[in-house]
Amino acid sequence: MTDTITIDRPADRVALITLTRPKALNALNLQVMREITAATAELDRDPDIGAIVITGSERAFAAGADIKEMAPQTFSDVYAADWFAGWDALSRVRTPLIAAVAGYALGGGCELAMMCDLLIAADTAKFGQPEITLGVIPGMGGSQRLTRAIGKAKAMDLCLTGRTIDAHEAERAGLVSRVVPAAALLEEATGVATKIASMSRPAARMVKEAVNRAFESSLTEGLLFERRLFHSTFATHDQKEGMAAFTEKRPPTFRHA
Ligand code: HXC
Repeated sequence: MTDTITIDRPADRVALITLTRPKALNALNLQVMREITAATAELDRDPDIGAIVITGSERAFAAGADIKEMAPQTFSDVYAADWFAGWDALSRVRTPLIAAVAGYALGGGCELAMMCDLLIAADTAKFGQPEITLGVIPGMGGSQRLTRAIGKAKAMDLCLTGRTIDAHEAERAGLVSRVVPAAALLEEATGVATKIASMSRPAARMVKEAVNRAFESSLTEGLLFERRLFHSTFATHDQKEGMAAFTEKRPPTFRHA
């Protein structure tokens, strides 16, 4: 079986995962899910990796879950296999994940991008949750993550009508953090990843954990969680080094520990 992804190291401490099913517009079948979750889990264990970029092709980040694979399934099949539950493994990755999106990010493709911590879009990107046009609903987190990302009004609009939004509307709505010319997408995403990966590894992971906690807890709990993590950074070498470097007016040399 041909691999559905490639894994590269485009810069120091940065991994790049590229979806490689261009003929199917990178539709997410079970094999893609297994390969992405296995690759990210392995990269997550690698102390020399500080950020992971996930990208597709110029035409499509991913045009959704694989409709041809899904079409013949019955309720018993998808319930028994707990279809899509395997993607939850991506939420357990502690390394910051960056989605670099060009072209279509529809259905499961939009949901995969939203599983990442940061979305950078090419000006060609198109986002949407068109599942309703197929007689189903989002199944990889779209109704939940999209609503948290852009609010009820826009999420209802996208999920109920199936319409797509362009990169600029996605940026205005708060779904993506930056829009760049398509030709500069990978350079920008790799640059952001390099910047993140140059920071203290434990601090970057704690930032990810703390921001994500905002979606899972009350404000009081979230503030307590953040404060306890903040206290714990004082047990790291990198806190001593970062603050000493500031005082000594020099760049820090983090040990990522
Ligand atoms: C399987 C797909 C696919 C998909 C595209 N292809 N999307 N195959 N699953 N999600 C295949 C097409 O069948 C075709 O292959 C090839 O990719 C190129 O696509 P075209 O349709 O010919 O390209 P174009 O006319 O440019 O249209 C692009 C498009 C359209 C607008 C993105 O392909 C499209 O609407 N795709 C489906 C988008 C979608 O509904 N996504 C949500 C899926 S459901 P062949 O060999 O046929 O030429 C989902 C649900 C998750 O994600 C959880 C709930 C169930």
